[in-house]
Amino acid sequence: MNVLILSVGTRNKIVQYFKKALGDSGKIIATDMSDLAPAVYEADKFYKVPKISADGYIDIIFEICKKENINCVLSLIDPELSLLAKHKEAFSDIGVTVVGSSYELCERALDKMEMFNWLTQNGFPCAKSYTDKELFYKDVENGNITYPVFVKPVCGSASIAISKVYDKETLELLFAHNDNLMIQEFLNGQEIGADVYIDMLSGEVVSVFTKKKLVMRAGETDKAVSFKDEKLFTLIEDFVNRSGWRGQIDIDIFDVDGKYYISEVNPRFGGGYPHAYECGCDHMTMILNNINGHVNIKNIGQYEDGIYMMKYNDICIKKSLNM
Ligand SMILES: Nc1ncnc2c1ncn2[C@@H]1O[C@H](COP(=O)(O)OP(=O)(O)O)[C@@H](O)[C@H]1O
Ligand SMILES: [Mg+2]
Repeated sequence: MNVLILSVGTRNKIVQYFKKALGDSGKIIATDMSDLAPAVYEADKFYKVPKISADGYIDIIFEICKKENINCVLSLIDPELSLLAKHKEAFSDIGVTVVGSSYELCERALDKMEMFNWLTQNGFPCAKSYTDKELFYKDVENGNITYPVFVKPVCGSASIAISKVYDKETLELLFAHNDNLMIQEFLNGQEIGADVYIDMLSGEVVSVFTKKKLVMRAGETDKAVSFKDEKLFTLIEDFVNRSGWRGQIDIDIFDVDGKYYISEVNPRFGGGYPHAYECGCDHMTMILNNINGHVNIKNIGQYEDGIYMMKYNDICIKKSLNM
């Protein structure tokens, strides 16, 4: 069994965990557009590839799959998830399983307004959201929403260009200088991250790890503590079952006075996943089980609560940039 991990960047741990899960039974091949991406050196072999938006990019990935006898492929960055989903059939034709959700769901995850619409239509608690500021002002007048509010790009990521806004003047200024912004009800509560694995054969949620985010840095969870709540597990299962996610996903949730609000989904391994793995939620092995034709047994909440995670920096030293 050979696994291809695309756009590994700085996700060294993810590559290491896959290597551990695979043992001697296969190889991990990694790609990145830069040979200064440290995680590529954790893999058995590395291919430097063009930008994902370059002409013929996907054909290069197909070629790597054929040459390396790849059995499954996944990506660690958001913009590549839809691309893989779109070519699911073509990958399947060369014996490769795409680990991930459908094209439609990957696109929904990228668009926070689409996600809001789906969540409200399906009755899940979420922050009231607007792209039309006049509609928002009307709701302010009607008392349906109050300042402060949260303003962010509809298709943003990594917490870029997010603001907490206290008045109309600031909001006008932000809208005048940026395209594609949305206004969201400010969720004043505890941020939670969920790392979830949905069996690719049975479609069932088989593993859920939840953590309270204690400190965020540059859009990522820097410090967190694990916890368990059956009510939250049930909400996550219900949400996943109704939307149809597959494989690995990461969900942002807020706990506002005991009520859980779903904020967003990243249908891939999130930056905070190592916390789940180190607490015993080995989703790499679950992926390999699926690729080997084995269904994973549902085992939700199989970890200890109160386990802390603290991130720190590490470095990679290379004399030359060949493997
Ligand atoms: N409605 C909101 N209320 C309060 N904080 C928010 C809200 N939306 C986002 N945030 C904060 O901004 C961060 C980034 O927003 P998010 O919607 O997760 O976008 P992305 O992670 O794609 O940049 C969140 O982790 C959270 O800290
Ligand atoms: Mg987020």
